[in-house]
Amino acid sequence: MKKVWFALAASLSVVGAGVAIAANPPPRGTVTIEMPNDMGTSFRPGPGVETAQRYCLTCHSSAYVSIQPGLTIAQWTAEVKKMKNAYGAPIPDDQVSTLVTYLATEYGL
Ligand code: HEC
Repeated sequence: MKKVWFALAASLSVVGAGVAIAANPPPRGTVTIEMPNDMGTSFRPGPGVETAQRYCLTCHSSAYVSIQPGLTIAQWTAEVKKMKNAYGAPIPDDQVSTLVTYLATEYGL
């Protein structure tokens, strides 16, 4: 008889857990959320953008570039060199001018 009561109690607690889950069902349907414009994972389209995507997103977001006030060619050159020389960004020498041209065009003054 004890076994029967145990079995009954066990099955009731399973049912109880089922009811508890049903009382708080997960949300269903489509949820729409508004994202900020620059999520920091992509650069503006333009010639050279693939190069920037490739070399400038390893350490930080694209927002580091997009929040700059708009830099000259000389300033972007200094930035790219700083990333390369001071912070160790693995940017090949022959990609620097592509990057600077892209940055000065899309994020220039
Ligand atoms: C090896 C890692 C690394 C890579 C790759 C890298 N950066 Fe940076 N970058 C940094 C660090 C570190 C900082 C300074 C972060 C801080 O001060 O919070 C920084 C800061 C910046 C800033 C803010 C201004 C400043 O000088 O601090 C800009 C703009 C920037 N990076 C642009 C770029 C561009 C453009 C590229 C691609 C050519 C690039 N970064 C690639 C590490 C990197």
